[in-house]
Amino acid sequence: MDALKRQAAARALEHVQDGMKLGLGTGSTAKHFVDLLGEKVAKGMRVIGVPTSEATRAQAQACGVPLTTLDEIDHLDLTVDGADECDGALNLIKGGGGALLREKIVAAASDRMIVIADDSKWVDVLGRFPLPVEVIPFGLAATQRAIVSAFAQSGVSGQMEVRKAKDGHVFVTDGGHWIVDAHLGKIPDAPSLAGMLSVIPGVVEHGLFIGLARTAVLAGAQGIRVVERR
Ligand code: 5RP
Repeated sequence: MDALKRQAAARALEHVQDGMKLGLGTGSTAKHFVDLLGEKVAKGMRVIGVPTSEATRAQAQACGVPLTTLDEIDHLDLTVDGADECDGALNLIKGGGGALLREKIVAAASDRMIVIADDSKWVDVLGRFPLPVEVIPFGLAATQRAIVSAFAQSGVSGQMEVRKAKDGHVFVTDGGHWIVDAHLGKIPDAPSLAGMLSVIPGVVEHGLFIGLARTAVLAGAQGIRVVERR
C-alpha cells in the first residue's frame, strides 16, 4: 500500500514546474509527495510551499522545501494532497489525519488540486469513511444536535463520536478545535449536506471537499489511473 501511495505521489510530482507555489497536503500519501519534492529541491528545483499542518511543516523543513504562508502570497498554483475517499465527481472526504481545515483553505486558494491516493480510496458513494466535522468545543451538544438535524434533512444518519488521540485524550486540531466523526455509511447528496453543515454555528469546517479536486491520481495493482473532473 505504501508503495502505491509513493507511485501516486511521484506521478503528481510530474505536474510540478520550476517556480511554482504549492500547497502541501497532510497524511501518509502526501508525505511521500513532500519527500519526493524535497529530492527535486535538493537538485535545484525552485518551488515554495504552504503546508496544511504542523506535521507537514516540520517534514517540509526537514526536506529542505522552502515555505511561505497565504498571508505572504496571493494564490497557489497547485495543491497536492491525499484523501480518505474520492467519488466519480472527484468530491472527497478528507480529515482522517485531522488537518481538514487548513487543507480546505489551502485547496481553495489553489488554481488546481491534485488528489493522490491508492485506489482503495475510490468509492461509488462517499460515506463509508466516517465524516470528520471540526467543531468548537463550546456548546458542543448544541452543535451536535444541529449536525444531526442537517443529517436528517439530507437523508443520512449514524453514530457520532468526538475523536480521541492515541493517548485517550480528546484530539485537538492544529487550530485548537475538536473533531466529531460521523459514521454515515452513505452520503447520497454530498454537495447538499456540505452546504447544510457549513452554515451551522459551532462547525468550523467539515471534511466534504466539493468541487475542489480537479485531478485524481489513483495507484493500484494494475497501474496508475488519472481521473480528471468533468
Ligand atoms: C488529513 C487528510 C489526509 O489526506 C487523508 O486522511 C488521507 O491520508 P492518508 O494519505 O494517510 O491515507 O485528509 O487530514
